[in-house]
Amino acid sequence: MQEYLFSGARILAPARAFDAVADLAVKDGVIVAPAELSSRAKKIDLKGKLIAPGFFDMHVHLREPGQTHKEDIASGTRAAAAGGFTGLLAMPNTDPPICSVEDFLQQQKLLAQKALIPVLQCVSLTQGREGKALNELMALRQAGVKALSDDGGTPQDEELMRRAMLAAKEAGLPIIDHCEDYSISRPGVMHEGAVSRRLGLPGQPRLAEERMVQRDIRLCRETGCRVHLQHLSSAGSVKMLRQARQEGLPISGEVMPHHLLFTDQDVEKYGVNAKMAPPLREESDRQALLEALCEGSISVLATDHAPHSQAEKALGMLKAPFGITGLEQAVALCLTLLYHSGKISLAELIKRFSCAPREILQMPQLSLEIGETAELTIIDLEQKHQLSLQNSCSKARNCPYEGMSCKGKPWAVFSQGRLLKTQELK
Ligand code: DOR
Ligand code: ZN
Repeated sequence: MQEYLFSGARILAPARAFDAVADLAVKDGVIVAPAELSSRAKKIDLKGKLIAPGFFDMHVHLREPGQTHKEDIASGTRAAAAGGFTGLLAMPNTDPPICSVEDFLQQQKLLAQKALIPVLQCVSLTQGREGKALNELMALRQAGVKALSDDGGTPQDEELMRRAMLAAKEAGLPIIDHCEDYSISRPGVMHEGAVSRRLGLPGQPRLAEERMVQRDIRLCRETGCRVHLQHLSSAGSVKMLRQARQEGLPISGEVMPHHLLFTDQDVEKYGVNAKMAPPLREESDRQALLEALCEGSISVLATDHAPHSQAEKALGMLKAPFGITGLEQAVALCLTLLYHSGKISLAELIKRFSCAPREILQMPQLSLEIGETAELTIIDLEQKHQLSLQNSCSKARNCPYEGMSCKGKPWAVFSQGRLLKTQELK
């Protein structure tokens, strides 16, 4: 294996409150003292760049098996590496969905063959993702599953969710929930408000999300199960999450770059590439999400990378599927919107992208110390660039970020003994 000496970078490891310019040596994929390197080590000058613990995206749709015309394991994990991630959690709403121990083990084999970076496979909470009957959570845990989710939807039945949380608590697994009450959200295709009325499109009120956030908090308190709320979009959800965390409940939440950047007004600009679940809401929601992320009430940044084909998205606002991509753009967008604007420190941003997801998924923290497997995200903090989909690694193009100006760019990731330069992945 190639040996590396990375010199001159700022190394920032929030897990041990380390922040200094230092050399970092890697041999056989492990961080070592520079003196241990042989004369064959490759010297890489990283002056002006940042080395951070590997970023982990805990909300990705890889579409394999079943919808590989949208994305597959190889293209999706390549897009993740190109975006600065060294690992991801894949949602189980594939076709067929990943529901059983057997599905999970089969998927592990596929991932071992095809994934460019390590993938954790999330498994559905209910059989067939139908929200009717619980899976065997203890058996899933024993097979190595780390998280459960019916993402794309959620069980609508509160009693079923209560039993799910009791079982997940017993199995020691977190439930990762997509909060949506279908009786309120359907058949909405965007946020319900002045813009949906002007466009004459059916809307989804905030209440559709907030009712389920409220339910999950209630059940989290009742059962003690660890709960993670996916893709929060409304100010009301944020307020409830903040209170629940202050109360000391084992609950966390995530936000996506699109909900931090856009509002329902952008639906007029981007059309189907601004159609996702939950929908873009109003400026007051966006501000509440920004505030909660910066203060830490929302502890995770993730993408909800949801690739769809151009033919499907061409069906228009009413019929196109929900979702946009974002793996390759999220880090650059967040550096620009959050760090360079002075809203958040670099250490806090790294916690949202690396430390918090690892904690929720009970993965070891990365402290960038000697003896640890090297899993690094290397960032050029100052590089100005425009986002382009032209050389995108993802198969999909349902992305609103084309042409946006950014400052800061993932330069490379180091994973499994290999240096993957983002530019060379495209
Ligand atoms: O926008 C979304 N797309 N939200 C989801 O919850 C599911 C996802 C998908 O799988 O396309
Ligand atoms: Zn979802």
